[in-house]
Amino acid sequence: MEFKSWFKEKVRIVDEYLEKVIEEKENPQKIIYEAMNYSLLSGGKRLRPLLLMGSYELFKDDLKEALPYACLMEMIHTYSLIHDDLPAMDNDDYRRGKLSNHKKFGEATAILAGDGLLNKAFEIGLEAAIKSKSLNGVKALKIIADSSGTEGMIGGQVIDMDGENKIRSVEDLKYMYSLKTGAIIKSSIAAGAVLAGAGEEEIRALENYAEKIGIAFQIEDDILDVAGSREKLGKAIGSDAANNKITYLTFKSIDEAKKDIEELTEEAIDSLNIFGDKARYLIQLAKYLTSREN
Ligand code: IPE
Ligand code: IPE
Ligand code: MG
Ligand code: MG
Ligand code: MG
Repeated sequence: MEFKSWFKEKVRIVDEYLEKVIEEKENPQKIIYEAMNYSLLSGGKRLRPLLLMGSYELFKDDLKEALPYACLMEMIHTYSLIHDDLPAMDNDDYRRGKLSNHKKFGEATAILAGDGLLNKAFEIGLEAAIKSKSLNGVKALKIIADSSGTEGMIGGQVIDMDGENKIRSVEDLKYMYSLKTGAIIKSSIAAGAVLAGAGEEEIRALENYAEKIGIAFQIEDDILDVAGSREKLGKAIGSDAANNKITYLTFKSIDEAKKDIEELTEEAIDSLNIFGDKARYLIQLAKYLTSREN
């Protein structure tokens, strides 16, 4: 199968699952379901689910077992975006080509919609883990929970909010990236492998790949915030400058940053050597990310 077809088919399966996952119940709290679906079903690259499934598929064919975990990664990611856009954080009015959640529903509902997505993610994960006959699901959920927490995404966001005081060097910045963006990318890959019963050496190789693409992905995000197109991105450009954020471009030129992305991507791909041709989709995914426009 061509990479493009692989990619499209995965996005289709994920979208189909996500469309059904949050039922809009006719009850007094109905607005929360609308707000959750508003952000969850508004597109997005679905990168984290793709990574989880791509990793899982290296070891097992039947994707059904992995699908809930893949989709719950997207729910955690979407929650992080809703909160990231809030006035108290990046104060962004557009996301995925639409008004951001708080602009549409108000801040209180947006905060709760984020919380709702995070909670629902673990409801789904636990349900899947209970149904399965092995402990792998629980192990995957532990990895995912850690990566979303204060030693992962939340921790990275804390540093990002006070970057001017906390980020003095490219090393500091990469540490922040490895948490705010890298942690969930890495746990998607690791969870896929753990679910499929991969061995330690294989998991280590995949984590290496994910660590590199995680950093490269955030460098590209910083570049797009300066040099991207608002229409293609579906979010405002110039957000980082407006917030006086320390980004990769505080330390390096765009050309240098692009070179670093290429280098990280090559290193990521090298980490997959042990898998041979089986890793072709993950390899092509890493390459695709270097030329993305959104
Ligand atoms: C944006 O993530 C936030 C970052 C971690 C840089 P994505 O670029 O994956 O956003 P969507 O999911 O495609 O909207
Ligand atoms: C966000 O980083 C990382 C998250 C954990 C959501 P950014 O703040 O740079 O992401 P965008 O540019 O708003 O998508
Ligand atoms: Mg942010
Ligand atoms: Mg932001
Ligand atoms: Mg950004």
